[in-house]
Amino acid sequence: MQRARLAIFVIALGVTGLAGAQAPAAPPAPAASAAPAATGGIQGQNIFEVKPEASADPNYAQQTNGERAKVQPGNNAPMWRQVGQGVTGYSSLPKSQAPEAGNLIQPFVQYPGSRLTNAGEAWRQVRNNWLVPYGGALLLIVLGAIALFYLGKGTLKTHGVDTGRKIERFTPFERSAHWSNAIAFCILGISGVVMAFGKFFLLPVMGGTLFGWLTYLLKNLHNFAGPVFAVSLVIIFFTFVRDNLPKRGDLGWLLKGGGLMSEHEVPSHRFNAGEKLVFWGGVFFLGIIVVASGFVLDQLLPGLVYERSTMQIAHMVHAVATVLMMAMFLGHIYIGTIGMQGAYQGMKTGYVDETWAKEHHEFWYDDVKAGNIPAQRSGRPTPPSQTIQA
Ligand code: HEM
Repeated sequence: MQRARLAIFVIALGVTGLAGAQAPAAPPAPAASAAPAATGGIQGQNIFEVKPEASADPNYAQQTNGERAKVQPGNNAPMWRQVGQGVTGYSSLPKSQAPEAGNLIQPFVQYPGSRLTNAGEAWRQVRNNWLVPYGGALLLIVLGAIALFYLGKGTLKTHGVDTGRKIERFTPFERSAHWSNAIAFCILGISGVVMAFGKFFLLPVMGGTLFGWLTYLLKNLHNFAGPVFAVSLVIIFFTFVRDNLPKRGDLGWLLKGGGLMSEHEVPSHRFNAGEKLVFWGGVFFLGIIVVASGFVLDQLLPGLVYERSTMQIAHMVHAVATVLMMAMFLGHIYIGTIGMQGAYQGMKTGYVDETWAKEHHEFWYDDVKAGNIPAQRSGRPTPPSQTIQA
């Protein structure tokens, strides 16, 4: 089973990867009667395979559609076999926009050690047997781990008493960028989860019609939220990159796990090493992959030939990267809401109390106290008594 699954993955990557890279370098068209024996590669059925026992006629497999219709009226399997072999028919769609419009079914391909297979079917197998179960499992594991952490530790509270003196942590511009991105992310996450996993937990509850309309709506929402997410992600990147550059003390912070298991948090600058990991891993690295693959799926990148194989590769890359991104940001959202007292307030109002700043970002607080960083960065008027005097 394990080997079979690995083979499917390799086939799918091979099929889509190679087909995508050197598009029409199709393997030799299969002789209909000589479908190779299965070597345990692909699961599911090859509907075009001719079974020798189907007829006593030795030329059965070579029959044309006309010949077959004479001996078996209504049986047009030879035509469908041709379609499956990639025979291109006529389509009124412009070739530049739909290069494969004349191909009703993605051509069959065969790679060494695997049986003759349909690339679309191989992709479907990867989606249904790998991406959906393992992706879903990862998200559930992360949710479970967060729930256990919350049950064990509860909300991380500020130990000292608030002084009432505030430091501006995020300017209105930073907050607008962040919340635009977060809202788009939630829309994308929810719609993505419903499209990928909804048939397991929503379809049985709401039935086919409602579920169909819901996914139709969410799919369109997903397509529009994607570009909003992409633009706000770029703004977020440039807004926060400076304070996410590695600094002395980050490694120590990581080695001590931020002090999460002890009473005292390890001192950090404006953003701690955990936040920096999310920034570089989630916002930057996964962000680029998620956005680029999403743009391919939306057919927004000029100059690309949008064949089935292109979309299949983009889909698999998108699914893996988005699941990892969601897993990462579930942790971020937890710490940013119920996980840590005062964090959400900072992103909502823009201000944190100096006690919060000292406890969670001590080096940053020291810099503000020393006047190296202004306590009030935006030109917004705030009651002087409320703002820490740097
Ligand atoms: C509902 C979803 C979200 C919530 C509730 C949330 C909450 C927060 C909070 C409270 C902070 C301030 C943390 C601090 O003071 O150190 C923050 C910072 C930040 N958030 Fe979010 N966030 C959400 C989604 C996102 C998403 C989707 C992204 C990007 C893809 C993101 C990127 C950032 C960045 C870059 C920062 C600055 C800290 C850093 O650079 O690591 N957030 N968020």
